[in-house]
Amino acid sequence: MWTRIFGGIAAVLIPTVLAAQTHPIIFDTDFILPPGDDGLALLLALQSPEIEILGVTTVAGNESMERATTDALWVLEHTGRTEIPVYRGADMPWVHEKSEFAERRYGKWFSNEPPAPPPGGFAEKHAESEGAVEFIVSTVMARPGEVTIVAIGPLTNIATAIRQDAAFAGSVRELVIMGGAVALLPDGAGNMTPNAEFNFWVDPEAARVTLRSGIPILLSPLNVSRKTSLTKDWYEKMIEVETPITKLLETTMGPRFAREPERVFLMYDQVAVGSLIDPTLVTTEELYVDVDANHGISYGTSVGGREIWPGAEGAKKMRVQHDIDWPRFMEMFVERMQAPAAAPNSRQD
Ligand code: BDR
Ligand code: CA
Repeated sequence: MWTRIFGGIAAVLIPTVLAAQTHPIIFDTDFILPPGDDGLALLLALQSPEIEILGVTTVAGNESMERATTDALWVLEHTGRTEIPVYRGADMPWVHEKSEFAERRYGKWFSNEPPAPPPGGFAEKHAESEGAVEFIVSTVMARPGEVTIVAIGPLTNIATAIRQDAAFAGSVRELVIMGGAVALLPDGAGNMTPNAEFNFWVDPEAARVTLRSGIPILLSPLNVSRKTSLTKDWYEKMIEVETPITKLLETTMGPRFAREPERVFLMYDQVAVGSLIDPTLVTTEELYVDVDANHGISYGTSVGGREIWPGAEGAKKMRVQHDIDWPRFMEMFVERMQAPAAAPNSRQD
């Protein structure tokens, strides 16, 4: 009898425990194909049973929003994950205008060029007709306190969602952001201007609104990205096993490493996803972080402090990553890339 009762309890509890380990996420991205970081971050999320991707939302950043959209559709189609919907988001930052510096330095967020076809041509899968912000707001509001957002591009979509619905910020479970650089901690220089990181610099006004929104934030800034390095040796290790995922890696990364065998890529967005899968991989410190949206020499710079300083009243505390167990992260990353491709809808069964 006790076996029957405990068996019954276990039958009820086990699915609950397993479900509790899964993070339902919205994947908000200025997508680029591998070896680009957003592409590898999406593959990591797709291959991780700890994560259930409810939808991919695109934003202008590394490339135009249209290019981000077509490339994300291509990856989902080539990994057999066409059940995951893709939503077009903002095609320009709120305020920041294209400049000669932006054109010369890095990124194509301002580009009007039609997207170039990915290898082998465009995906047959199409983006949804609903917009990214509508999807983000309705998905979060339908499950208050349950949905995590992983935002690895400029924060335009997220800040627009915050502005659109006053109850939205209080309903997000957690927001994992790749963005910013914190001078208070080691390796805190910018990568776009001397102190500003790319994602925050593209849309500083949106970054400021998002960081001040009160959503619980886990920030993955350049400080932690700079502890990573993706080399040709790591790529070759990943493709030792033949699967649909490693074939996709060969198609997208192979030509790049053939051209530039010595190239070392930082893993920005992959760390944000990896730290959601296994929080013990990263070291964090709680800091107040704010963003300078004044149109001066520090436009788009993030500033972190252990206590509030003049001008930062209204800044919120968040967990800021600054170190990573790199060998263990790469062990996990390679293992996920080599695993058989996850089945469509497997987590909804
Ligand atoms: C961030 O900017 C983009 O180039 C990358 O995809 C990453 O999200 C790094 O500064
Ligand atoms: Ca990105």
